[in-house]
Amino acid sequence: MNTNDHTIRLEKEEDYKEVENLVRESFWNVYKPGCSEHYVIHVLRDDPAFVKDLDFVMEKDGRLIGQNMFMKTVIEADDGRIIPVLTMGPIGIIPELKRKGYGKAILDHSLDKAAAMGFGAVLFEGNIDFYGKSGFDYASRFGIRYHDLPEDADSSFFLCKELIPGYLDDVTGVYQTPKGYYVKDEDVDEFDRQFPPKEKQKLPGQIFA
Ligand SMILES: CC(C)(COP(=O)(O)OP(=O)(O)OC[C@H]1O[C@@H](n2cnc3c(N)ncnc32)[C@H](O)[C@@H]1OP(=O)(O)O)[C@@H](O)C(=O)NCCC(=O)NCCS
Repeated sequence: MNTNDHTIRLEKEEDYKEVENLVRESFWNVYKPGCSEHYVIHVLRDDPAFVKDLDFVMEKDGRLIGQNMFMKTVIEADDGRIIPVLTMGPIGIIPELKRKGYGKAILDHSLDKAAAMGFGAVLFEGNIDFYGKSGFDYASRFGIRYHDLPEDADSSFFLCKELIPGYLDDVTGVYQTPKGYYVKDEDVDEFDRQFPPKEKQKLPGQIFA
């Protein structure tokens, strides 16, 4: 990747369909046969927790090649406080340009913007091998637990980055995934019919059936 070969800007309404298609391409058959993320972003844009000023697309040679977005959510602290935080994603890069540095570029750009807007921390589910390079660590190291996860379960998928250093210093508690991320399979299937047909495949490494 050349740092001058792309631009990162806010998503516009006229981008919506192209972005949904790129997200569908990025996620298709990665975590399960097919994917639901293109429908998730379609729904989240109308959610009150959606942060319009942190809804980014990446453009290269006149087309959109990547996107990232954020939602407001909370940590329910053990001492009763409600701590506002951000969660992130979906984030995606089109298949043919994966592993060339574009994902890290849009991630770092959007985290800088989120920090500049005064948000304190970002928590979400992801792979430390990618997000660790942008300063994420296991959320358990910050004393934050993932909702509905048994205490002895592996929580290494649950990551956190402070945007304000020390923001979570005196906080322990439970992170809540915004409800908007939960979509019904039948709604995804119906939405997916608006896109060109694509084969769902069972592949090694998929984490959901
Ligand atoms: C995940 C994704 C956004 C990363 O973007 P990308 O442009 O492919 O990643 P980058 O080239 O910026 O990666 C930077 C480094 O992170 C690490 N990394 C990236 N993707 C990784 C993966 N899937 N597994 C392990 N490490 C990964 C690598 O160390 C990589 O450097 P390297 O290629 O020199 O080894 C992109 O691959 C994608 O769209 N994947 C499908 C959708 C998805 O999984 N989204 C994230 C959901 S949490």
